[in-house]
Amino acid sequence: MSEAAFTPRIFSGIQPSGGLTLGNYLGAIKRFVAEQGKMETIYCIVDQHAITATLPEPGTLRRNTRELAAGYIASGIDPEQSILFNQSQVAEHAQLGWIFNCVARMGWMQRMTQWKDKAGKNSQNASLGLFAYPALMAADILLYHATHVPVGEDQKQHVELTRDIAAKFNHDYGVAFFPLAEPVIEGVATRVMSLRDGSKKMSKSDPSDMSRINMTDDADAIATKIRKAKTDPDALPSEAAGLEGRSEARNLVNIYAALSDRDVDSVLRDVGGKAFSEFKPMLSDLAVEKLAPISSEMARLMQQPDEIDAILSRGADRARAIAAPILARTYEIVGMVR
Ligand code: TYM
Repeated sequence: MSEAAFTPRIFSGIQPSGGLTLGNYLGAIKRFVAEQGKMETIYCIVDQHAITATLPEPGTLRRNTRELAAGYIASGIDPEQSILFNQSQVAEHAQLGWIFNCVARMGWMQRMTQWKDKAGKNSQNASLGLFAYPALMAADILLYHATHVPVGEDQKQHVELTRDIAAKFNHDYGVAFFPLAEPVIEGVATRVMSLRDGSKKMSKSDPSDMSRINMTDDADAIATKIRKAKTDPDALPSEAAGLEGRSEARNLVNIYAALSDRDVDSVLRDVGGKAFSEFKPMLSDLAVEKLAPISSEMARLMQQPDEIDAILSRGADRARAIAAPILARTYEIVGMVR
């Protein structure tokens, strides 16, 4: 069976680890919204992944799960058009994840750069779940026979591993059951960088809150963070080539371009020659204009946790209807008596 035999379907997920950042929004959610209506779209709150690095307080995990659901919806994910759910409500993720733990090789997992970064020098003390995490991520994707996975650049290696797992399963059992899902890494904001250090990814785990814009930041916080963002002394160039070797300048221009749905060249045609003292207020006005409606809608939705839970529960039912037959067929292929 060739890939063309699989119905095009998008799957992606975000960890409810608290504090959705501008990186998550531009690199993931905004792009997820743009895919709606083009093909079937399934978006997940991967709460089982969110307990791999540390075990959060139960109340914190619950709150972060609902806040991420609110973030998805406030940004434009329509829970009717897309399937929106949390991972732990669909037990099939963990079930297929176990099979993939037995397909994936230790060496593959040891090569994962996120494992190396997150486990650090103290890998003996990291959880087994953190090590096995990419196999669960492969299960998330392949449980729906997803063909396209929109992600930021940092997840590319995990989607490639998903392809390796699918290929090994198909090869070992002599089937063409799982698709080789494609990572979709497009646009100017697939790697939004820290506002304090243009060589580091913007991340919710960075100890400095000044390094990131959170989706819940108010206008003052956004303006302060952009005003204090690291830059260089030169004016902005008029063409993209002029951003070469200027990672902080490039990052701010990329953010501007992504927020305004323009490409970098068209932005630079307007702002080329301007000093950062002039460009930064433009960027903070744009960020506030785009993000304030999302954060106020998130706050409004968070007042209605029952409604969020009902949406997630309906989403889980719809997800399960796709996942259950795929897991059942996987068990059959593996030889598990049902
Ligand atoms: P997570 O929760 O770390 O991030 C969610 C999404 O946001 C993107 N992202 C960024 N994009 C651009 N610039 C940044 N600074 C930035 N920071 C984060 C990530 O690339 C990602 O697309 N393992 C995944 C979650 C996951 C998943 C899946 C994704 C679990 N199962 C199945 C896709 C399909 C993760 O930890 O993402």
